[in-house]
Amino acid sequence: MNSISIAPSLLSADVLALGNEACRAKEAGADMLHVDVMDGHFVPNLAYNPAVVKALHGMGSLPMDVHLMMKRPDKFIDMFIQAGAARLSFHVEVLKGNRWLDDITVEKGLAISPGTPAGALFSYLDKIDFVILMGVEPGFGGQSILPGTTEKISQIRAKNQAIDIAVDGGVTLQNAPDLIRAGATTLISGAYLWGAEDMRTAIEELRCAR
Ligand code: DX5
Ligand code: ZN
Repeated sequence: MNSISIAPSLLSADVLALGNEACRAKEAGADMLHVDVMDGHFVPNLAYNPAVVKALHGMGSLPMDVHLMMKRPDKFIDMFIQAGAARLSFHVEVLKGNRWLDDITVEKGLAISPGTPAGALFSYLDKIDFVILMGVEPGFGGQSILPGTTEKISQIRAKNQAIDIAVDGGVTLQNAPDLIRAGATTLISGAYLWGAEDMRTAIEELRCAR
């Protein structure tokens, strides 16, 4: 049985208590903390910056999985690495050539939005450590997963047996078994995990969903 990593998405945490929330995720047994960065151009919203990543890193947070939803991620890759990101990804929709990928010296990933066919990733799969497969249109937490997500996981898994496929957006205990069976190896979850009565139980249930 493949082991499944669980990454609570900080977007749905209490912004007035981010440090405590990061501790809560760690104590609840999460594997990493997913941190969304939004530029107001690639997506119609704004979210976290290098200062937040640095502060959380400084207090000994979980390894941070930083997801850049930006038109020009290249301008910020180095800042987020310096701030302490353990994993860094940006969207295949903004990628031109390999140059920006080569700039990432931590674990590197490519994210893919729902409207982009899985094939857009295929030529990069041997150059990256993980895929962030969006289950919702990027920009906001708390949306429902879109149909077609599971099929897209299967298409990527068929091309590469080893790569970490992380699903981001709309992940709940209800859809987790299908996502895992299709080949997902990491589940990123915001609204569902932060809204759970007991985050530890919710994380364990997601991890063991089949
Ligand atoms: C959406 C973000 C996600 C979001 C997921 O654009 O990339 O990380 O926080 O949140 P949920 O699980 O609530 O859909
Ligand atoms: Zn994300």
